[in-house]
Amino acid sequence: MAKVLVIGSGAREHAIAAQMLKSPQVDEVYCAPGNPGMKKSGIDIEDIDELDFAGLTAFAKKNQVDLTFVGPEVPLAKGIVDYFEDQGLKIFGPNQSSARLESNKEFAKKFMKRHDIPTAKYQAFTNVDEALDYAKKLNFPIVVKENGLAGGKGVTIVKDEKDLKPTIQTSLKKAGEILLEEFLQGEEYSVMVFVGGQQRVIFPISQDHKKLYEGEVGPNTGGMGAYSPVPHITPTIVKDTVDQIVDPTIKGLKTDDLEFSGIIYVGCMLTSDGPKVIEYNLRLGDPETQVLLPQMESNFYQVTMDLVNRKQPDIKFQEKDFYFGVVVAAPGYPKNPKQHIALPDLPENVYIAGVTEENGKLYSKGGRIFTLFDHASTLKEAKTKVYAELAKLGLSEFYYRKDIGFKDINN
Ligand code: AMP
Ligand code: GLY
Repeated sequence: MAKVLVIGSGAREHAIAAQMLKSPQVDEVYCAPGNPGMKKSGIDIEDIDELDFAGLTAFAKKNQVDLTFVGPEVPLAKGIVDYFEDQGLKIFGPNQSSARLESNKEFAKKFMKRHDIPTAKYQAFTNVDEALDYAKKLNFPIVVKENGLAGGKGVTIVKDEKDLKPTIQTSLKKAGEILLEEFLQGEEYSVMVFVGGQQRVIFPISQDHKKLYEGEVGPNTGGMGAYSPVPHITPTIVKDTVDQIVDPTIKGLKTDDLEFSGIIYVGCMLTSDGPKVIEYNLRLGDPETQVLLPQMESNFYQVTMDLVNRKQPDIKFQEKDFYFGVVVAAPGYPKNPKQHIALPDLPENVYIAGVTEENGKLYSKGGRIFTLFDHASTLKEAKTKVYAELAKLGLSEFYYRKDIGFKDINN
């Protein structure tokens, strides 16, 4: 029987670990550092920081872990995969060099240019005046991006002249380098792909909701809810995206000697000129994972292992139902989430994130606390089910959006 180690501590990692446990080959799943909310699912949480590579590899060896699966981007950007592989341990995720496609936005832009992958026009700057000069060539709104990992919070869409200089100044101060980009108009969607060298598996499409408030307004968050599949992203759009973006990306990775086994999550905009890349992430999305992995009918451990070994896996997703998930956050999230609110007893269909345990009871600790998910044969039914379950929990001390799915459901 196999043992799996999942790195990370959020609801996404809870979903990954729970899905691994469903595999008939797997008898033990550890999550480091994990969170106490995972224990009810039979996951062993290990108090090792996700950046303590020496501690993690020592644990993997001592416990004869067969496969490590990395959830979040920071350990990937810091080279966790290289560290494990140097010690002969199997791990699913990009090496540090490939992870730059997410961690270094300019590197990603140059990669796309080299391989003719459609994306917004841009330039990178370390100086305010040069950035202001380039901005004269763009029309408002202008997109200002901090170069580096910012948890989805390093992007500002500047609507008019008066906000431009202060935004450039603040972003430069924070990141040291910024990108100015042309604003892409259109419908945003994402495509998640599992790769193992040139082998690939396209996941069903999922739709995240990144803004804090209903109607998709307010500050950016890590993501407030998701559903899958997404009716308004048609099979033709998906095919065009695979042909014009996903496959050239996978080919480009080979040409540039950047192949890996792991995830490519392409954030796209469907513009009047066709699909364009907004950004690459080299990890699964959160909360998208919480509505994607439960749809997998094949053996998740085997699929991942096959890709690590550069074999085309046998993969099957359910095709009957819509999956729907809502993120429950602490009030004050994302700026200043209130801590230590007691959680009610939770049902089984939750993936838990920011919690701490005291005397067997869970309390909030962090911003996003848990994702509740369910499925039904129509999107509307799935939505009704999830919101009814949330209402039953009495979550008046927490915050969640009530309009997840609004683009595909007319109330
Ligand atoms: P990112 O962190 O690059 O995904 O950006 C966060 C969000 O900013 C995206 O999900 C988009 O909604 C928006 N965004 C980023 N770049 C652009 C762009 N060039 N045009 C329009 N919107 C963008
Ligand atoms: N849900 C967006 C992300 O994981 O980046």
